[in-house]
Amino acid sequence: MSLNYKDVSKTVIPEIQHNVNLRPYNTLNVEAYADRFVAITDPDQLTHLYDQSLLGKDTWVLGGGSNVLFKGRVKPLVLKNEIRFLEAVEESGRDIRMTVGGGNDWHRLVKHCVEQGWGGIENLALIPGTVGAAPIQNIGAYGVELKDVFVSLSAFDLETGSKRIFHSRDCEFGYRDSVFKKEYKGRFFILSVTLKLRKPPHTINSHYKSLEEWLENNHIDRPGIADVFRGVVEIRTSKLPNPADLGNAGSFFKNPVLPASKLDELKNAYDSVPSFPADEGMVKIPAGWLIEKTGWKGKRIGNVGTYENQALVIVNHGGATGDEIWALAISIRESVRNQFGIELVPEVNVIGTSS
Ligand code: FAD
Ligand code: EPU
Repeated sequence: MSLNYKDVSKTVIPEIQHNVNLRPYNTLNVEAYADRFVAITDPDQLTHLYDQSLLGKDTWVLGGGSNVLFKGRVKPLVLKNEIRFLEAVEESGRDIRMTVGGGNDWHRLVKHCVEQGWGGIENLALIPGTVGAAPIQNIGAYGVELKDVFVSLSAFDLETGSKRIFHSRDCEFGYRDSVFKKEYKGRFFILSVTLKLRKPPHTINSHYKSLEEWLENNHIDRPGIADVFRGVVEIRTSKLPNPADLGNAGSFFKNPVLPASKLDELKNAYDSVPSFPADEGMVKIPAGWLIEKTGWKGKRIGNVGTYENQALVIVNHGGATGDEIWALAISIRESVRNQFGIELVPEVNVIGTSS
């Protein structure tokens, strides 16, 4: 079954632009330059560039730029993923398997699925960025992660010029993690992703505290996927700044996963400590809580600061450089280290080199 927006360009020879300012292409709204910039609309264009010996270690793949911090000059060749097609390849019983071009907008896909009555990704509404980037950090929100619906992906190997299929087990998905952030970092261009969704009756995941509260406040006892979608959109809109208004990349750091004994230690010192279950014997402590306790919430230094409603979000108040943002991130990390003995790890991908 073929769905609406099939838009595959037949142009095999892509246009190479030079010295391109990437400010319009990152949600932190930071100025940074790429020596060469190519918008990829068709996988064959990658083969063409590979045959010209233009691809390799100096290549970097850009999606929607919603999880990157550009520091200084970025890689010499930036490939922007604009491969847009959407097709449901298989429909069997209650299952829908759909293959989606990596350059499609993630939220638009979620909305489309909810409208079709296909369940599984409604909790992942309003996450900015592209479908092709979703496996990179195994995007997650409100109790669901990409891995819960993921079947496989197709990727172009920038080093060998060949295509490869990765199934779920090959991706080594973890919390904000995958093989594409480890041994295959920067090596593959994700062309498309295949997901497994479900027709009604759906399994609803509404256990995340703020979602549960939203449903209760709206007197929704038996939520459907459209209710979850609406709830997640409303909660996110109230908590997170819209990058169109205030530059940001969502959570700047990952939530630290720590031994349960560390939570007991914190509980001795603080009245109430929020936490989420993690692997056996471990707990996840919200980095936003730790940062708030160090006094950084809503603070501003020059052009940068943390968001007033969510301390984990670093914002660009206008005109900030990548180095300024990184300097603030380091100060926050030091404060948390000094106060709690906990090391925060950036979730945002730091790209480029400078002082
Ligand atoms: P980019 O930022 O362009 O790239 C991110 C990384 O993926 C880079 O290393 C890049 O090289 C690589 N990459 C991108 N596309 C490809 C590809 N096709 N092939 C190979 N590598 C690729 N994330 C969550 O998990 N949960 C959230 O709830 C969430 N909320 C957010 C809220 C806001 C307001 C913002 C700004 C961000 C949020 N994020 C969240 C982070 C971000 O939206 C996700 O990480 C998203 O998947 C990034 O997509 P992108 O296309 O913008 O990727
Ligand atoms: N909190 C504070 N102060 C703050 C922020 C949070 O005390 O300033 C505490 C509160 O107790 C709150 C708890 O932290 O209840 C959790 O906050 P929230 O629900 O906002 O979630 P989070 O842990 O800060 C994570 C993800 C988000 C994702 C939400 C919802 C990470 C690093 N972040 O944030 O993902 O949308 O949960 O599932 O895991 C992203 O990755 O960019 C992102 C936005």
